[in-house]
Amino acid sequence: MFIKKKINNHICTLMIDREDALNSVNPDVLNELYQEVESAKENKDVSLIIITGSGKKAFIAGADIKLMEKLDKKGAKEFGMLGQKVTNVIENSPKPIIAAINGFALGGGCEIALACHIRFASKNAKFGQPEVKLGLIPGWGGTQRLPRIIGKGNALELIVGGHIIDSKEALRIGMINKVFEQEELINKTIAYANIILSNGPKSVAESIRCINIASNYSLDEGLIKEVKAFSDLFESDQTNEGLRAFVEKRKPDFNR
Ligand code: CAA
Repeated sequence: MFIKKKINNHICTLMIDREDALNSVNPDVLNELYQEVESAKENKDVSLIIITGSGKKAFIAGADIKLMEKLDKKGAKEFGMLGQKVTNVIENSPKPIIAAINGFALGGGCEIALACHIRFASKNAKFGQPEVKLGLIPGWGGTQRLPRIIGKGNALELIVGGHIIDSKEALRIGMINKVFEQEELINKTIAYANIILSNGPKSVAESIRCINIASNYSLDEGLIKEVKAFSDLFESDQTNEGLRAFVEKRKPDFNR
């Protein structure tokens, strides 16, 4: 078991727990993370997921390099596809997933964070795609998601340079959303999670879905999909409740 799970007040926290290897991930960790995200998606008691790393030093220091050293082309393809399966299930989760980045987020660790919907980091966190230093490229979505998040120029600099940046720089280039003191990271993340939890679950899920599809379509096609999602929500009890609650000057009860 490489993941510690805690469910509290509709929030499922998944902590990667392989501290002696700086929470670097092998196929066992990836498979476990996939299963945990799938099970949280199905669990009616869970409305939001937080992914973090164990200890004070690392979120995830990347794919397990000691394992990769032994891979051939076929094994590397399987490992790459498994990492992409995990990052895809995170990105496409209708329940919001926040990365609470408590230290090194390197290589595959940075890619897992990039697949999350929101990234909060501690002041000591460090980010990078140092694969080129190993004669590799990012293989779990880094070449695709990083430019979409921070722009092509910034992504090229980070991926081709392979250098590591601190959380101040990551915040400046838009790679992360907020920075906190390490001792405050989880509590601040939970506090923000509770803000999301006060919103309509269906509208949160539809917002994620529409934003995710934005990069796959032209603006015209995306706008058609957006207005369909917008109008479909008018058939949902949650939307009726949200609108009625505003008019009646009370808090909505989304019946979570
Ligand atoms: N894989 C396997 N083991 C790792 C690891 C990784 N990615 N990162 C750290 N470890 C292990 C170290 O080997 C060490 O184990 P031992 O005590 O058994 O030797 C232990 O974790 C502690 O690490 P260090 O002694 O190196 O700690 P440090 O403080 O001196 O350095 C660090 C920290 C800068 C993060 C350094 O560990 C490092 O550079 N790690 C590798 C980071 C990296 O290159 N990640 C990208 C991997 S490639 C990838 O992820 C491909 C992809 O896109 C999917």
